[in-house]
Amino acid sequence: MEAMSARRGEDAAPPAAAATKVVLIGFMGAGKSRAAVIAGRRLGAEVIDTDALLEQRLGEPIASFFDRDGEAAFREREQAVVLELLERPGAAVLALGGGAITSEQVRARLREHLCLYLEADLDLAWERSRESGRPLARERASFERLHAERAPLYESAFRAVLPGGRGDQTERALEAALGLADARTPPTVRMAWACTSSPPGGYPVYLGVGTLDAAAPLWPAGGRAFAVADERVRVLHGERLETALTPVGLEQVIAVPPGERHKTLAEAESVLRALARAGMERSDVLVAFGGGVVGDLAGLCAAIYQRGVRAVQVPTTLVAQVDSAYGGKSGVDIPEAKNYVGVFHQPAAVLADPSLLATLPAAELRAGFAEVVKTGLISGGGLWERVRALSPIEHALGDEPEALAAVIEGCVRTKLAVVAEDERELGVRASLNLGHTFAHALEAATGYEGYRHGEAVGVGLLAALRVSEQELGLDGVVRAEVEALLERHGLPVRFEGASTDEIMARAALDKKRRGGRARLALLRSPGNVVTGCEVDDASLREAIEEFRGAAAPGAAASGGRRRS
Ligand SMILES: NC(=O)c1ccc[n+]([C@@H]2O[C@H](COP(=O)([O-])OP(=O)(O)OC[C@H]3O[C@@H](n4cnc5c(N)ncnc54)[C@H](O)[C@@H]3O)[C@@H](O)[C@H]2O)c1
Repeated sequence: MEAMSARRGEDAAPPAAAATKVVLIGFMGAGKSRAAVIAGRRLGAEVIDTDALLEQRLGEPIASFFDRDGEAAFREREQAVVLELLERPGAAVLALGGGAITSEQVRARLREHLCLYLEADLDLAWERSRESGRPLARERASFERLHAERAPLYESAFRAVLPGGRGDQTERALEAALGLADARTPPTVRMAWACTSSPPGGYPVYLGVGTLDAAAPLWPAGGRAFAVADERVRVLHGERLETALTPVGLEQVIAVPPGERHKTLAEAESVLRALARAGMERSDVLVAFGGGVVGDLAGLCAAIYQRGVRAVQVPTTLVAQVDSAYGGKSGVDIPEAKNYVGVFHQPAAVLADPSLLATLPAAELRAGFAEVVKTGLISGGGLWERVRALSPIEHALGDEPEALAAVIEGCVRTKLAVVAEDERELGVRASLNLGHTFAHALEAATGYEGYRHGEAVGVGLLAALRVSEQELGLDGVVRAEVEALLERHGLPVRFEGASTDEIMARAALDKKRRGGRARLALLRSPGNVVTGCEVDDASLREAIEEFRGAAAPGAAASGGRRRS
């Protein structure tokens, strides 16, 4: 493939803005005014701070108007000003006062514009607001209540969520979010921000139908692109990938054979050699185009090629879109154990386009649903509700695309939040391994041929929930519900094909094991995972024995077995 030029790079021009306004929303102290100034400069657009404009029109500070006439009178004036600005023709960047979002009319109008939510956690918001003279930031308890009340309102309105009040990191996230303001980016594309220490400050995660085709305005600046693609995915979506990445300087697509059995050091070596032959340099970007297998393999190659190049993940399976593409864990299997050789290498960006899932075989889609259930259990709350309410996954893809997109986004944000707290898995990140000790052991014991990763995770979850009942008193209702959910989505709830001894031998190689005892992530209740629970082998054996049996009918119909 020839080298292409015309990419968004050091010479990045302002995005060709679509005809909507960029609106910064968020709680007090999130840094909206400053972000608006930066965005206005970047887009060459007028910047209006609604609080400043209101003070001008009121002819006095907001605090004195508020104290004299009360909040209701203030909100009325605020709503009128904000609606006027949103309805005014022409481009502009607006920084909205923190409470403007409480107006239903304002929220309805915001849907027509590009709404960026600067999310500030409570402590940061309080620290930045307490001495600002704001009328609603005089007392911590009511401030806290307000913070909790407004969060769902901001959540309902944004297209991109960025870390508020975090200096450079906020600026980088803002720059990435302005890719959504580009006329080439369809309104279906959304963004979340992954906070990490490497690359410093994090990376954008773009989600939604059309994300792949909008790669050019969303691309991290600089370098050429080299892609590692799952062979099967290349046949199905290769042209689309090439069209999308040609403007960012796509040089070459290297195809790798599909399937877990190719997630090996030997395959990594052949990719590295192909990249060297193709002349990839350190400033270039390695694109992973495929499911978790290619994501993990290409991530490892990106981490070690010339001691590290940037990686962009373009996940094409449900497993990869909800889980494996984020968080930087990259690696390969060895015959003895799964994911045993690897590194942490955070991506430079992730582009997750659910339209790529349309060609995914039903069995793979179902396997992905097991990771969705896992993440729902970890998150609890609204995400767990949405996961439980989803139609069987093959139907959800066609019939409930919005519900599925919301579930995918919820899973992504859950994972990003966990990883942000513990990037290198020294503590809380181990919660993401719920069900995985058993799953990895089953996969290895069946030669990576018996079960798809997600299928093994489904049974592994049940085993982990059983142990959780014994160790943490988890209500048995949860396991019954998860079992019914897995069955409804056509996933196996029993396993076969390996003896308990074989599985125990593989589990003994689990990387979390210490002093000869298994250390598991277990569930106290949905939303409450406890990591590092030491469990003796007898309990583990019992749990394994309990789930021995025939595969569920749905899984059997889909093959339930491997594979390519
Ligand atoms: N790094 C992490 O944090 C992490 C997390 C979870 C899972 N994983 C890893 O992910 C792997 C499992 O990922 P997976 O389930 O995506 O498997 P996979 O990558 O093997 O993909 C599954 C199958 O789907 C095919 N496929 C992919 N995209 C397609 C598409 N759009 N249309 C049609 N076919 C398509 C592939 O060719 C393959 O046959 C495991 O190796 C697991 O260890 C890693």
